[in-house]
Amino acid sequence: MEKSLMLAWILVLSTAMAVPPCQGYYSDDEPHVLAPKKVTKLHFYFHDTLSGKNPSAIIVSRPNTTIASNSIFGTVVAIDDPLTVGPEKTSDVVGNAQGLWVSTGRDVPCLTIYMDFGFTKGEFNGSSISVFSRNPITETERELAVVGGRGKFRMAQGFAHLKTYFLNPKNGDAIVEYNVTVIH
Ligand SMILES: *[C@@H]1O[C@H](CO)[C@@H](O)[C@H](O)[C@H]1NC(C)=O
Ligand SMILES: *[C@@H]1O[C@H](CO)[C@@H](O)[C@H](O)[C@H]1NC(C)=O
Ligand SMILES: *[C@@H]1O[C@H](CO)[C@@H](O)[C@H](O)[C@H]1NC(C)=O
Repeated sequence: MEKSLMLAWILVLSTAMAVPPCQGYYSDDEPHVLAPKKVTKLHFYFHDTLSGKNPSAIIVSRPNTTIASNSIFGTVVAIDDPLTVGPEKTSDVVGNAQGLWVSTGRDVPCLTIYMDFGFTKGEFNGSSISVFSRNPITETERELAVVGGRGKFRMAQGFAHLKTYFLNPKNGDAIVEYNVTVIH
């Protein structure tokens, strides 16, 4: 396409987008979206407990196949896991992670996680961050993507560094250390 014609089209399109709302359900006036961004660092431990009478993670479904007897590929787990200040189970709870993890690694064990990490203490009480990422659990140190947030973390982006603090390979119980950098 000729350059001037392209420019004319861009002009037509951007004028069309600037037209004031006519359907009564949207507006382009959202000043908080333009506020300067902050960087917040969070540090906590995530307790994923599948075992016992009071698990915080439960298997929702697993595939009906015999591909490999020891494979958990395809397993879906729903969680409501406590987040604590220290690694001990008795440490102060600062929030909880709710969502799903799906075992999505066919050859190398890997999870894909769809979780909302909500906080219940201090400045971020009632706010949460949305994490959607693959989680290569066989690597000692790994990174997850923070793709959004609620409350004080509205419009957040960021990343989390994870390190497995404890893992029981028999029942899958795990405690994971998180360092999260949130830009919001
Ligand atoms: C899968 O489901 C079918 C039909 O219900 C059943 O006959 C079969 O035994 C199941 N296979 C496994 C591996 O569970
Ligand atoms: C967190 O917020 C809830 C709801 O507003 C409130 O009931 C609770 O007391 C708050 N907790 C702390 C520790 O501030
Ligand atoms: C988190 O940050 C602290 C302080 O910098 C560091 O000691 C720790 O190893 C980090 N942990 C992870 C999982 O990145």
